[in-house]
Amino acid sequence: MKILSAELLTVASRRAEFPRGEAPEIAFLGRSNVGKSSLLNRLVNRKQLARTSTTPGKTRLVHWYRIERASGALCLVDLPGYGYAKVSQDERRRWKRLVEAYLEGREALRAAVLLQDLRRDATEDELLLLAWLAERRIPVLVALTKADKLGQGPRSARAREIARALGLPAQRVLTTSAERGLGIPELWRALDAELRPHGERAARPSAARGGPA
Ligand code: GTP
Ligand code: MG
Repeated sequence: MKILSAELLTVASRRAEFPRGEAPEIAFLGRSNVGKSSLLNRLVNRKQLARTSTTPGKTRLVHWYRIERASGALCLVDLPGYGYAKVSQDERRRWKRLVEAYLEGREALRAAVLLQDLRRDATEDELLLLAWLAERRIPVLVALTKADKLGQGPRSARAREIARALGLPAQRVLTTSAERGLGIPELWRALDAELRPHGERAARPSAARGGPA
């Protein structure tokens, strides 16, 4: 996937600061420390575009990264992570408000990528998020992260288990490693499928649409 340019467009802590959303957007959601910023960097082949950290809760604002490819521009949106135990109730409420403000009625949003550590079981948090996204008809892909921590066999078994636990078809659940670059072309293909049909559908309302229901 050839990336012509990648830059931080803007950062926001509340709705009033959100950019206008001129390019289609893909949002990255998931537990703190799951690897959102790392996966985003790997997708665009930039080591430190999005800041990563071994300290959970690093990304507390919404970050918009504008990416140019030959096929056009898009924004990858790094949302703050949830589920970090050391965070106060206030901080949790703030997270919810900010993330909902973004996901709710964001015209430019084409799909959300929910990240889940391949070694961990999905929790009520992920199930609630999926239900919430489904209600709002936001297409979701699940990226299982840190696949380099497991061997090939256990990897596929875990992917099947997690897909089942989340109630998603296997093709919506992709195994990735930001560290080793595993699953990155596959993730781009899946993202492009989300970016394409919507545009075509808007231009030609009668066109048959493939992909998930
Ligand atoms: P918050 O911003 O706190 O929500 O975290 P995040 O989801 O953005 O996680 P981040 O990308 O900062 O990564 C957290 C830690 O996991 C860092 O120490 C990364 O180096 C590590 N990590 C991320 N992806 C991978 C991966 O594919 N493999 C391995 N082994 N480690 C990874
Ligand atoms: Mg981050």
